[in-house]
Amino acid sequence: MDKSKRQVVIAGNWKMNKNAEETKALLAEMTTAIKDADCKVLLCVPAINISTAVEATKDSIIEIGAQNCHWAANGAYTGEISADMLKSFGIKYAIIGHSERRQYFGETDKTVNMRALACHENGITPIICVGENLEEREKDITKDVIKTQITEGLANFTKQQLHNTIIAYEPVWAIGTGKTATAQQAEEVCAYIRELLGELFCPMCAQKVTIQYGGSMNAANAKELLSMPNIDGGLIGGASLKATDFNTIVESAK
Ligand code: 13P
Repeated sequence: MDKSKRQVVIAGNWKMNKNAEETKALLAEMTTAIKDADCKVLLCVPAINISTAVEATKDSIIEIGAQNCHWAANGAYTGEISADMLKSFGIKYAIIGHSERRQYFGETDKTVNMRALACHENGITPIICVGENLEEREKDITKDVIKTQITEGLANFTKQQLHNTIIAYEPVWAIGTGKTATAQQAEEVCAYIRELLGELFCPMCAQKVTIQYGGSMNAANAKELLSMPNIDGGLIGGASLKATDFNTIVESAK
């Protein structure tokens, strides 16, 4: 199967940025700038701004996603948000296992798996983040790290659930550092992820999975990264907070 058969997804991750007023203002700019696209365009905003963002984008091609989702249906989990709650706002995508959640909030491959399965039960596509840190890259164990994250993060997935999953390869050393992986480095790992999914599920199933690259993707480097055979989109932090830059990235996917 060739790349054009996979859905290209350009997703912004606003992380912990923008209050309610700022969210409205930036989305007004975004909806004006981004009128047509050959790909799915998604903005994952802080949970508290989801309803504001959904309202602000209701007549636009931009979809709103979440940045996390708890595994339990409900219960005594102060501060957490369930997949059912996200679904009730029409949310269809949630970032799961971002490296910042792994680093600062104790996220593990096991909790990534539980959160992703809760997403699937509620018709939400998890965007599962994987990636090595600098030390792991320097030790030349990138593939081992990715293999564990994918195998454990996607444990007990059915083929159908795999089909409704996006993988985001985000090398930790490239996030927010301005240091992008070269297109070749990114392609090598994304191709490896696809090969692994082929072994774990089936080669044909793996061909249908959208694999994004994330880590200092910007208006200048997006085109080259997105032209690689196994890179089907981007997960963009900093550059998704600027309407013109984000629009350029969306345009690069055409
Ligand atoms: P930057 O694009 O700011 O490097 O962030 C990438 C990222 O973490 C997206 O999830």
